[in-house]
Amino acid sequence: MTLNIGWIGCGRHARQMLLPQLGINDIRIAALCDKDEAAMSGVGREYGVEALYSDYRDLVAHSGLDFIGMAVGPDLHENASIAALQRGLPVFMEKPPASTAAGARAVAEASRLAGQPVIVGFMKRYSTGNRIAKNILEEGDFGQILGMTGAYMTAPTYFVGEPDYTGFYLHHCVHYMDLIPWLMGDDFDDMTVRKVSPSPGKILFHLGFSAGNGVIGNVVMGTVQSRGTPMEELRIMGDHVRLEIDNIINVALYRDPAFKADDPAATLDPAADTLSWTPNFTAAANEDHKGYKALIADAAATVRGENRNVPTIEDGLLAMERLERMIALIEA
Ligand SMILES: NC(=O)c1ccc[n+]([C@@H]2O[C@H](COP(=O)([O-])OP(=O)(O)OC[C@H]3O[C@@H](n4cnc5c(N)ncnc54)[C@H](O)[C@@H]3O)[C@@H](O)[C@H]2O)c1
Repeated sequence: MTLNIGWIGCGRHARQMLLPQLGINDIRIAALCDKDEAAMSGVGREYGVEALYSDYRDLVAHSGLDFIGMAVGPDLHENASIAALQRGLPVFMEKPPASTAAGARAVAEASRLAGQPVIVGFMKRYSTGNRIAKNILEEGDFGQILGMTGAYMTAPTYFVGEPDYTGFYLHHCVHYMDLIPWLMGDDFDDMTVRKVSPSPGKILFHLGFSAGNGVIGNVVMGTVQSRGTPMEELRIMGDHVRLEIDNIINVALYRDPAFKADDPAATLDPAADTLSWTPNFTAAANEDHKGYKALIADAAATVRGENRNVPTIEDGLLAMERLERMIALIEA
């Protein structure tokens, strides 16, 4: 069944990453909304869309829509998703779900009242390396997770000279407020923060945490690295086993091999030596390592009534609550 979507936000992210995933999931853009006429008419031409609205309230009132999608920004995500839900329409929204946890809670409440799902764009759950890691952790052989360390960095580009890190927290850190508990299998319990700021706009902080299930960990986040370098790494520690995920695509599973130096017959033991995976970027296939395609496929299936394990507004609310706890510690 072709789904008719009303789409809000014709900016960079929608145009480059999200809208190209719609057609292949049998989703037709029936109407568009953006306050920037030029951006909207460009996307309208590209996808053959004639119903163009500058106000999201007019878009959600367009007849014949099956759901609303949006990649705009925190305040509009909250307001437009509530408007869509009040018309009985399911929603796909990019992160963050709102500017505050209270806003995300209002969307969650509207979703419950309407009985319609809100899928939130936590595509890092779908990135190839993270997904492989989650599957390994769940299949049982890894055993108990003991510790988790990681890094999520970005550059000061958007924040130069600007000591207000709201954008960094809302647009970047929120990803790990979802991903880390998702991988650990439990929520943060204690949280501590240490920070350093060499100049306005540049911040580095270490978030220390424990989780309800006993996992301990630390995530390094900040605005002091170049986006021309890999930005993310994760280390998950078990007992004589550890998983490393670098740059969301390179995965290594270290286990418990025998020493090899003194063994002239040493080879590699498939049951004990390191397993690793890295993708082939020369494959003439548009492989989805970042996870946008898989996320939109799950969002479409959910709107069609299938049961998929998608990140929802309840996950978005938890992520915003964790984020606010973290910000309070940073700004204390
Ligand atoms: N998951 C990811 O990897 C990822 C990556 C980038 C951006 N995003 C998210 O996507 C969202 C958009 O980011 P972007 O980089 O595309 O920003 P952008 O500024 O390029 O695009 C936003 C668009 O929304 C429009 N807009 C703003 N206010 C509006 C309003 N009141 N009514 C109608 N249109 C309005 C703007 O004119 C613009 O075209 C953000 O929430 C961001 O966090 C997610």
